[in-house]
Amino acid sequence: MATSRRDVLKLAGLALAGGSFPSIIIPSKTFAGVNSETLKVGLIGCGGRGSGAAKQALSADPNVVLHAMGDIFSDKLENSLAGLKKVHGDKVKVDEGHKFIGFDAYQKVLDSGVDVVLLATPPHFRPQHLEAAVKAGKHIFCEKPMAVDAPGVRRVLEAAKLAKQKNLSLVSGFCWRYDEPKRASFGRILDGAIGEVSTVYNTYYTGLLWSFPRKEGWTDMEFQLRNWMYYTWLSGDHIVEQAVHSIDMMSWAFGNKLPVSAIGTGGRQVRTDSLFGYIFDHFAITYEYPDGAKGFHFSRQQANTDTSYLVESLGTKGRAMVDCSKRVHEIYGANPWKYSGPSGDMYQNEHNELFASIRKGKPMNDGEWMCNSTLLAIMGRMAAYTGKRITWEQAMNSTEKLGPDTYTWNTAVPVAEVAKPGFTAFS
Ligand SMILES: NC(=O)c1ccc[n+]([C@@H]2O[C@H](COP(=O)([O-])OP(=O)(O)OC[C@H]3O[C@@H](n4cnc5c(N)ncnc54)[C@H](O)[C@@H]3O)[C@@H](O)[C@H]2O)c1
Repeated sequence: MATSRRDVLKLAGLALAGGSFPSIIIPSKTFAGVNSETLKVGLIGCGGRGSGAAKQALSADPNVVLHAMGDIFSDKLENSLAGLKKVHGDKVKVDEGHKFIGFDAYQKVLDSGVDVVLLATPPHFRPQHLEAAVKAGKHIFCEKPMAVDAPGVRRVLEAAKLAKQKNLSLVSGFCWRYDEPKRASFGRILDGAIGEVSTVYNTYYTGLLWSFPRKEGWTDMEFQLRNWMYYTWLSGDHIVEQAVHSIDMMSWAFGNKLPVSAIGTGGRQVRTDSLFGYIFDHFAITYEYPDGAKGFHFSRQQANTDTSYLVESLGTKGRAMVDCSKRVHEIYGANPWKYSGPSGDMYQNEHNELFASIRKGKPMNDGEWMCNSTLLAIMGRMAAYTGKRITWEQAMNSTEKLGPDTYTWNTAVPVAEVAKPGFTAFS
């Protein structure tokens, strides 16, 4: 997929001439990105996924360098940098002046002359970082989920619209949408292989994840940030942070149509230690669609339990199984089928497609569906926390904004009670 500088200029020139995108505004910054011989990447959030995304970005195009990194913790940044240098050597050109630490590190990365940014912090910060990246005219890879609350989703939706107008690529980390077997399976479902889809059962049952016991000298802010998954204001709870993958695939099976409402339950039954903040450890949600169709979602993070990570779609002509753990992709009924093609690497595909789109001057934009899938998960959490049926309109218009607006190491952080269905109010 090597693209010569001449080809890039030619393709970019086509776009400029209006051949490809007659109605799109192409600001100079974006265009400079398209024309650059070397694409400079900035990483914001240098943890596990951010480091993985940087590796994939550096492998996605022959002429890409890592130019700047930002994190709130220097240990995370240095660890990531050392690992990336081992894998990518000279492609990692992050000098001392391009290592940024602190709550404003994201803005410094954006101001450092990068063309593409990788957003991989805890989800609470995604709306702020994504909006700033679009305003700064950067192409974006952003990890899922897009926000932890409805005001955040609305902010990302606006930023995604602006990205479209600015001819910027915006690719999401809903990685299964970039997985070849999933694309083949959901492609067939959407082509009618199982008839009209009436029911989508989906699971994300998993065990425990990492946690860091409190160290002397850590403020509450540092403790919560190091254990961000267990605080709803930072992660959205595990239905939003993790199980959203299955909910996103449920939505895919339904052709991304929106439900009318969600009702469900959940709780914190086993993982009750204060080390695990105040999130739930299980959810069960029914999504109610306008024509009577239903999506049934179940998730949990509990030790010593059976795991399951699948999406099973039932239609008027058959059934489709997509099992992520067992790698099963099959259709049963009137149009039997089994996936037998290559598996590929979905994480690499995300970046291959992002960088190809930049080189070709043909922007991608996952904006609308990535926000809707995030809101589906938030709506499920709202239904479980409150014990009430929550409509799509209520969820989308919710004014509940989680967490502080400004951040310092001594900012007071929410120490919320565990939600109690029937008592926790919707807002
Ligand atoms: N698509 C996938 O398969 C997948 C897998 C894992 C994680 N994720 C997503 O990736 C994101 C990161 O998850 P992770 O597992 O890498 O977590 P992580 O804790 O390993 O990394 C997060 C990093 O962000 C840094 N950070 C926190 N707040 C910041 C801020 N305000 N500014 C700059 N840096 C900040 C942290 O210090 C840390 O280094 C999450 O949204 C998660 O849901 C996606």
